[in-house]
Amino acid sequence: MADKVKKPGVIRRFISYYRGHLPLFGLDMLCALVISGVDVVYPLMARGALDRYIAPGAENLRPFIILMAAAIVMHIVRAACSYIVTYYGHVLGVYIEADMRHDVFSHLQELGFSFYDRSRTGKLMARCTTDLFDVVELAHHGPEDLFISFLTFVGSFIAMATINWKLALMLMATVPLMLAFVMYLRKRLNLTSRKVKESVAGINADIESAISGARVAKAFTNEEYEIEKFDNGNKRYIHAKSMNYKAMGQFMCGMEFFTTILKVLVLGFAGLLIILKRGEMTANDLFVFLLYITSFTTPIRKLAMFMEQYTAGMAGFRRFVEIMDTEPAIFDSENAVELKDVRGDIVFSGVSFAYDGGRHVLQDISLTVPHGRTVALVGPSGGGKTTLCHLIPRFYDVQEGSITVDGHDVRDVTLRSLRGNIGIVQQDVFLFAASIRDNIRYGRLDATDEEIIAAAKAAEIHDDIMKMPDGYDTVVGERGITLSGGQKQRVSIARIFLKNPPILILDEATSALDSATEAKITGALERLSEGRTTLVIAHRLSTVRNADEIIVIDESGILERGSHDELMAANGAYKLLHDAQNLLYGTH
Ligand SMILES: Nc1ncnc2c1ncn2[C@@H]1O[C@H](COP(=O)(O)OP(=O)(O)OP(=O)(O)O)[C@@H](O)[C@H]1O
Ligand SMILES: [Mg+2]
Repeated sequence: MADKVKKPGVIRRFISYYRGHLPLFGLDMLCALVISGVDVVYPLMARGALDRYIAPGAENLRPFIILMAAAIVMHIVRAACSYIVTYYGHVLGVYIEADMRHDVFSHLQELGFSFYDRSRTGKLMARCTTDLFDVVELAHHGPEDLFISFLTFVGSFIAMATINWKLALMLMATVPLMLAFVMYLRKRLNLTSRKVKESVAGINADIESAISGARVAKAFTNEEYEIEKFDNGNKRYIHAKSMNYKAMGQFMCGMEFFTTILKVLVLGFAGLLIILKRGEMTANDLFVFLLYITSFTTPIRKLAMFMEQYTAGMAGFRRFVEIMDTEPAIFDSENAVELKDVRGDIVFSGVSFAYDGGRHVLQDISLTVPHGRTVALVGPSGGGKTTLCHLIPRFYDVQEGSITVDGHDVRDVTLRSLRGNIGIVQQDVFLFAASIRDNIRYGRLDATDEEIIAAAKAAEIHDDIMKMPDGYDTVVGERGITLSGGQKQRVSIARIFLKNPPILILDEATSALDSATEAKITGALERLSEGRTTLVIAHRLSTVRNADEIIVIDESGILERGSHDELMAANGAYKLLHDAQNLLYGTH
């Protein structure tokens, strides 16, 4: 569950992700400490060797060899630590990334219809993928780089100052300049890499839309136009990438130049000191200084990198937190009870509803669907039929009035028990990219294969499935494109047969079927709805003729209600709709 009460600072929340991986983090930091230690100590050792054992007149082979052996051992340990930092540091990052992705995915599962209504799939996907890459870069490089850099930087400075504080101060004076220089170059590098990312995202979006729209492009013979549009994106990519390489080239050569110049400066300054002020500095000191230059410049480079990673990573993390802090609009109330032994008496009392503060879609709807009865909803497209059905399983909450099931307000029962007792065939059927068997099993995850086949038979889809290349194991395409509209509808009806709930909601469940199949399915659905409370929506009025009650609604509310015969006799909106359809389809 998302942390719904406390909202600690963003950085604290970021750090909290390390909590589950403290041993790994500790190991990482320990190795980082060893690496900085070696980098600071080694030049000092070298200086000791130069001064004490190989200076003219003080040659001493044995201790020199021992010292060199120790240096080798130190560097073996350093290499091992460097391996651990690189390997386990990244692994730590991967763990944190997986934790964050798990959290955001679980949270997305909790969020309701209204959230998905206003979110774009592509953006949500970016929250779970690319945004997290930046966060994780920061998560695993951040602390380690900061730690190593800080220790090495301070350690090197102190070591250099003990050798010759004037030269050390001179080096220190170049730091702000170098930092500014590195940050300027990295900023450019960063800017151009962002442009590259944007252009890649653009290309991806172009490809996605072109692939989904390929059939439309062909129908309008607009292939050339599509290619041209795509090439523009491709050109933008070439430009962005060249600028990126340009900035990279400048950065690399700038860094190399700066480091070399620093070495020359040290050489020059130290040379002057050696020549002009004898005794203040020796050639050995100079040698050690030159060794320190790398351990001095690397932290600066890393610090600049960290600042940039911090900006990108925190931006990604804030977007992550934004989703995590989006509270589900619909959740169990504190005293929610289980809805048990459902009979299925549904009562709408004075229900009004509008999407997200927009205009009213439903106005003052009062109706009763008694246990075991079938009530049909008809009315103009956009009149609010689907919306009304979505209020029963609480996909949205009503703004005025109430809906009860067996006398319980739907807001007072647990969502799980409420939705578990309702079977809904939605108007736009969605099939998962999985086998047909798994798609039907979605109705009840523990169903056996026999039960799945029985459900498929009841939904009149079994024969179609048997004709498919792999039968029940046939994998449905990404968007269910290998099935026809009517087949998809029947798969979704099979799910309901499997779920076997006491309340049925059929939103245009037979709209994509031919008359023969529709007759069969209608028969099956009638058998299914026996003894169950059923709400049916249908445009084709012939399919709702037998309903116990027919309700005609539009955005102004309920226009008419009654049985088919009563409504025909009333000579109102229903009769108008009915006559119009007869003109179109003829009586059947
Ligand atoms: N998720 C949504 N967010 C905002 N408005 C919506 C949403 N879904 C539907 N609407 C609007 O609510 C109104 C009623 O839509 P609804 O889908 O309930 O109509 P319907 O009677 O089922 O129509 P049809 O017969 O075409 O299926 C429409 O004006 C529609 O634009
Ligand atoms: Mg609808």
